[in-house]
Amino acid sequence: MKTITVLSRKGGAGKTTLAVNLAITAFLEGRSVMLADIDPQRSASDALRARQAPGPAFAESCAGKLFHAKSSAMRDGVELLIIDTPAAPETDVTQAVNISDLCLVVGRPSFLDLAPIVRSADTVRRLGREGLVVLNQAHTNKAEVAPIAFPEVIEALRFCGLPLSPYGLRSRGAFQQAIAHGQSVCEWEAGGPAAHDMQRLWRHIEMTLSQGQLELTARTG
Ligand SMILES: Nc1ncnc2c1ncn2[C@@H]1O[C@H](COP(=O)(O)OP(=O)(O)OP(=O)(O)O)[C@@H](O)[C@H]1O
Ligand SMILES: [Mg+2]
Repeated sequence: MKTITVLSRKGGAGKTTLAVNLAITAFLEGRSVMLADIDPQRSASDALRARQAPGPAFAESCAGKLFHAKSSAMRDGVELLIIDTPAAPETDVTQAVNISDLCLVVGRPSFLDLAPIVRSADTVRRLGREGLVVLNQAHTNKAEVAPIAFPEVIEALRFCGLPLSPYGLRSRGAFQQAIAHGQSVCEWEAGGPAAHDMQRLWRHIEMTLSQGQLELTARTG
């Protein structure tokens, strides 16, 4: 079983959106998936509860019970455990990071999000875990040619100590509409641009998990 923790110090960065979309995407590919929601807001659980079709299992949990949740998921044959975390307190996030194979640090590609991304990346590195920075809510335009982030942001993130995922998610209405129905963007708008972004990101995460090592790339896309 592989465990992924989605984290960011900054509220509203897109942790729950990413965690829910990843969980459903992996489930629809035939994986046995469990989402552990340790955020007292329970947004991920609410989203998956709204789902009509079969989907990933989910559990409302807390940091202190994560070890137990992971053991029972392993016993139940779960292949992928995804943990959605709150922005704070850091001790709760730390417990999730500690039991993870891969930590996804989510942030918007803007100047004000850089410091929180760097602090979250530092938590992952300090605990000796593997991680990836995933940019979310990137600017989009009609031509779909805007880079995922300004060169200055990409350059600054080179020094955060974790690799930057070459694929991120752009700001698209489909992410907000799909989650309200407990769906992933791949179901909501199959073949659409949000689904395309999500599929590329999932492939990269899957490859990273299977290789067990992370390459340092900072392509835009
Ligand atoms: N790529 C995206 N495109 C459009 N809207 C997005 C995208 N990602 C997230 N959002 C929206 O941004 C808001 C915050 O997202 P989300 O709840 O996933 O963030 P979060 O990091 O989990 O927040 P919190 O810290 O409160 O748990 C939500 O309204 C969500 O629908
Ligand atoms: Mg959340």
